[in-house]
Amino acid sequence: MSHLFPNYARKPFEIVKGTGLTVEDQSGKAYLDFTSGIGVVNLGHHYPAVETALAQQAAQLWHMPNLYENHLQEEVAADLAGEMDYVGYFCNSGAEANEAAIKLARKYTGKSKIVTFQQSFHGRTYGAMSATGQDSIHAGFQPLVPDFHYGIYNDQTSIDTLIDPQTAAVLVELIQGEGGVVPAEKKWLHALAKKCSETGALLMVDEVQTGMGRTGTLFAFQQFDIQPDIFTLAKGLGNGIPVGAMLGKQKLAQAFGAGTHGSTFGGNKLAMAAAKAVITTMKAPGFFETVNERSEELFAGLAAITSDKIVAVRGLGLMVGIQLISPEVLTEVSAALEAKGLLTLRAGQNVLRLLPALTVSQVEIQQALYLLREVLENK
Ligand SMILES: Cc1ncc(COP(=O)(O)O)c(C=O)c1O
Repeated sequence: MSHLFPNYARKPFEIVKGTGLTVEDQSGKAYLDFTSGIGVVNLGHHYPAVETALAQQAAQLWHMPNLYENHLQEEVAADLAGEMDYVGYFCNSGAEANEAAIKLARKYTGKSKIVTFQQSFHGRTYGAMSATGQDSIHAGFQPLVPDFHYGIYNDQTSIDTLIDPQTAAVLVELIQGEGGVVPAEKKWLHALAKKCSETGALLMVDEVQTGMGRTGTLFAFQQFDIQPDIFTLAKGLGNGIPVGAMLGKQKLAQAFGAGTHGSTFGGNKLAMAAAKAVITTMKAPGFFETVNERSEELFAGLAAITSDKIVAVRGLGLMVGIQLISPEVLTEVSAALEAKGLLTLRAGQNVLRLLPALTVSQVEIQQALYLLREVLENK
């Protein structure tokens, strides 16, 4: 009998070690990891610069509360903002980052209405779950936090009818990750941003999965030509060390005065040391050129696969979704890939999701393509 709640459908093996994209289970079987721990280990397992930063910080100080100055938080927030006009708040997960965003939007605007989208995913806490536009995730947990309204993603009418002067904020993913790797249409997103500025609603972008380089730029919004009022990060920010962040425009800062919101662990020194090493690595010259070369190789290889199991291939950077013809086929394909040593993810009902580390090599892309071809072309 397990001593754990059965809230995860776990595979019957355990990954016990890993370096880069190679991981190994308890029996010694090796796998090529195209999951990055669901988009977390974006620099690969055991990444030396993060490990060194953590070891140095661990030898100095692990934790002090947010009662004292924290120069690492200042530096990480400044590094994330770059030339842009954002201030940061640190927490421990994506759901918490979205909770902070929802609370800040309501406090700043004095309004409660939040618009999100069907098939979105924003996390499992009450606010983040209420923002999530999926009935299956709400089931059994009602009543939800009130005044969340779910539009249809990429639908102009939803913008026209739902966003109004009573709206505090809109929370949107630029590529719906858990929902099936569905990118927002740029034109739709620009219309959404325009409607937000016309009505005074804050534009909040959930970059928990798309951020930290996943789509080929540090943040996905840099490719969609929008500037959110608020954006949230987690997953790849600490390369495996739990950390989340909410970045908001400077004008919002006064709404989060002392005592309004907080977290014991949020922005602790170990998490900040890891985040700083991650950002420094990603901002090094040439980092994203290489990521985008690998992305092109992966998409080109996928386009060359001829299989009647594939409906569509979508995504950006190294966030890739292969829509298959049915959930049953997805189960068969992912099991066959796993047996051959390639770890992949599911998204939505029938999408095989690939989230390799951004440090993936040309050879590893070709290895994954070879296995995908074998399984999808029934060789
Ligand atoms: C877009 C998005 N937002 C929020 C979350 C929740 O993050 P966490 O599991 O760290 O709370 C996820 C997790 O998959 C996500 O993909």
